[in-house]
Amino acid sequence: VGFVGAGPAAQAIHLPTLARLEDLYRVAHVMDVDADAAVRVAARYGAASSTSMDEMLADENVDVVVLCSPPAFHAGQVQAACRAGVRAVLCEKPLAMDLDEARQVAEVISQTGVPVIVGAMHLFDPAWSWVRGELDGPVTAVSSHISLPPNAWFEDFATELLGRPEFPAPPLDTPDARGAFLRRVFLNLVIHDLPLVRRLAPVIDEVLFAHVVEPFGYAARYRSGDTVVDLTGGFARTWSPDWSLAIETEASSAHVDFPPSYVHSGSARACVSTAHGTRTLSPRGANGYEGEWRALAAVARGAETPDTGVDDAVADLEFAVRLADAFAEEVRSTR
Ligand SMILES: NC(=O)c1ccc[n+]([C@@H]2O[C@H](COP(=O)([O-])OP(=O)(O)OC[C@H]3O[C@@H](n4cnc5c(N)ncnc54)[C@H](O)[C@@H]3O)[C@@H](O)[C@H]2O)c1
Repeated sequence: VGFVGAGPAAQAIHLPTLARLEDLYRVAHVMDVDADAAVRVAARYGAASSTSMDEMLADENVDVVVLCSPPAFHAGQVQAACRAGVRAVLCEKPLAMDLDEARQVAEVISQTGVPVIVGAMHLFDPAWSWVRGELDGPVTAVSSHISLPPNAWFEDFATELLGRPEFPAPPLDTPDARGAFLRRVFLNLVIHDLPLVRRLAPVIDEVLFAHVVEPFGYAARYRSGDTVVDLTGGFARTWSPDWSLAIETEASSAHVDFPPSYVHSGSARACVSTAHGTRTLSPRGANGYEGEWRALAAVARGAETPDTGVDDAVADLEFAVRLADAFAEEVRSTR
C-alpha cells in the first residue's frame, strides 16, 4: 500500500486497520508534503517515504494507493493514481469537491479501468449490510444523528499522534456564513452517512427546514416521496458519542448504532423489528474500515462487490452536494 497523506486519518484509522489485515496488505510507501510526517510515519512500518506523489507511484512495491490527504486534493490524486495504473485506489471521503470534479474523475476511472472505493466506512459495516436485507416494505422515515466529542479524543485513544492540525471556530454571524458552515458540515461529516441515506431516500423533493445549531451543530429535514428524512448532530464537548441511523418502513423498523470514526471496537450494533420479533446483530470481529479494505482487495483482484462501482461513487457525491447546497440555501434565506 502507498499512503498519500500521513495525518490523523492515516495514523489513527488506516494504519491500525492494515495492522489487522497483514494477510492482505503491507505498508510499502508513505508520501506526505510534510517531509517530517512522511519520514516519521514510514519509519514505524519500515516503509519508504517521499514528498512527491510521482515518486510514490513510481515505487514498484506500491500496488494500491490510499488517499488520506485533505479533500481538495482527492480528485487530482485519484486521477494521477489511476493514470499510473495502480491496481486499486481507496479514496477517503469526499471523492471530489464538486460535481464537475467528480465527473472528470469518473471519466478517468472509466478510461483506465482502475477500481476506486470511497471511504464511506459505514457502507461496508457488516451490521448495515444485514439491516438492508432485513427491512420489510417501503421506507417511511429515516433519522440520521451524529453527535461526537472532538476528534482529538479518539485520535489519542488510537495512537500517539505526530502533529495535530488546529480547528479555529467557524464564523456564524451572517446568514451567508451559516449557510457556508452548514454546507461544509454536510460535505465533511454528514457525508459519512449520506450514501446510506441515499439508498433509503434518494430523491430530494422538498427541503422542510435547515438550521445551524450553535456552536457546532445542524438540524435539517427533507422529503423524498412519502419518506421524511431527519439529519441532526454536531460536535459537542461531552461524552458519549451517538452516531445512529433509525429507519422505519411500513412493516419493520431498524436502529443502527455506529462506532465513531477512529474507534476500532467492532461493527455497528443493529436492531431490527419485524412482525416476527426483534433481532440484534453486532459482530465484534469486523468493522467498516476493515470492510472497505477487504472490498478493495476484492476489486483489485477483479471481483465485483456491492457499492464499489464508479456510478455509485459519483451518485453518492452528487446526492451529498445537492443536499448540502439545498440546506445551505435554506439557511441563507432564513432570517
Ligand atoms: N473515514 C473517517 O472516519 C475519517 C476520519 C477523519 C478524516 N477522514 C478523511 O481523511 C482525510 C484526511 O483527514 P486528516 O484528518 O488526516 O487530514 P489532515 O489535513 O489533518 O492531514 C492530512 C495530511 O495530508 C498532508 N497533505 C496536505 N496536502 C497534501 C498533498 N497535496 N498530498 C499529500 N499529502 C498532503 C498533510 O501534511 C497532513 O499530514 C480527509 O479527506 C478526511 O475527510 C476520514
